Amino acid sequence: MGKHVGGADFRVHAAGDRSNRQASDWLLAGEAGSIREDALNAVEKAANQLRLVDLPPFPGVAVKALQLVSKPESRLRDLHDLISMDQAFATEILRLANSPLYGIRSEITSTLQAVMLLGYERVKGLLLTLAVKTYIGQSLEAPILKACWSHSLASATIAEELAMTTAIDKDVAYTAALIHDIGRLALAMILPEGYNKLRQQGPLDPGSILQAERDLFGMDHCQAGGLLMTTWNLPLTFIEVASYHHEPRKSESLDLVGLVSLACQIADALGFSVVSISGKYEDIVRELPDDMRRVIPGRAAKFLRRIADKMNGIESVLELKSIRVHPDSPVTV
Ligand SMILES: [Fe+2]
Ligand SMILES: [Fe+2]
Repeated sequence: MGKHVGGADFRVHAAGDRSNRQASDWLLAGEAGSIREDALNAVEKAANQLRLVDLPPFPGVAVKALQLVSKPESRLRDLHDLISMDQAFATEILRLANSPLYGIRSEITSTLQAVMLLGYERVKGLLLTLAVKTYIGQSLEAPILKACWSHSLASATIAEELAMTTAIDKDVAYTAALIHDIGRLALAMILPEGYNKLRQQGPLDPGSILQAERDLFGMDHCQAGGLLMTTWNLPLTFIEVASYHHEPRKSESLDLVGLVSLACQIADALGFSVVSISGKYEDIVRELPDDMRRVIPGRAAKFLRRIADKMNGIESVLELKSIRVHPDSPVTV
C-alpha cells in the first residue's frame, strides 16, 4: 500500500507543480490585478490538490476486498482470509452477522461461519459499506459528508436494483456505485466550507457542478476520484466509474459506468443529492431501457420508499443513527 501511495504522491505533486509553475509565470508577468488574482487562485488550487495526499488512506482490507470483487474466480475462503487479517473488520462482521437484520438464530462465533451464513455477496457489500463509513470516520458529523454518504448508499442500493435487469453483476454494481463519488468525498473533506457554498447554490446541472469544483479545487470530483483510486491501486473498472460517470453515454448498450451514472442521477432525483440538481425522476425513468422500466416504479414516492427501507436496514446494522431516511419525506441530512 505504502508503495502505491508513494507513486501517487508523485502524480499529485506533479499536478500541483504544474499549477504552481503557471502561477509563478503569472506573478512574474506582474501585470494587472486580475492576473495577480488568477495567480493567487492558481496557488490556492495547487495547495488544495496537494492536500489530497493528506487524506486518510482507504482501509487496506477494503482495497483488497475491492480487488476480490473484480475477480470472478475469488471464493468464500479468500474473503474469509481477508477479513480475518483485520481484527477491527472481523469484529464488525461478527457483530453484523449476529444482528437481528439477518435473522440467524444460533450465535455466530467465527468469521468463517459468518461468511458462510451471510453469503459471499452480502459480506463483500457489507465490508465495503463499512469501509466507506470508516473512511469518513469522525467527519460524518459534518452535514456535507453526511450528504455524500447518503448519496453513495442510495446510489449503491439503486444500482443493485438496476443491475438485476442487466447482465451486470449486482454486487459489482453496488460496490462501484458506493464508491463512485469518492472524489467528491475527498474534496468535501479537504474544504468543507467551500463545498458547502456550492451546495447552497440553486439547482445546477452536473456540468456546472464539475466546473465549479474545478474553479474551487483545481480539479473536479471525477478527476479527484480517478486520482485517488489510482493511488490506492484499485481495479481499472472502479477507476473508470469514478472518472467517467458524468460523461454522456457513448453507446446504446449499458455498461457499468452507464449503470452507475443512472443510479447516481436517480439518487439525486429522489432527494439524495449533495448539490441540488435539476433532473426529474420521472424524466430519467422514462428514458430507462425497457427491462428496467418494468421493475423500477414510474412514481418517485414508491421507489423512494423501497430504497429508503433498504438504506435504513443497512444504516441500522451499521449503527449510523445520525442518518435516518424517512420514506415519506424528502431526505434530510
Ligand atoms: Fe459524481
Ligand atoms: Fe453521484
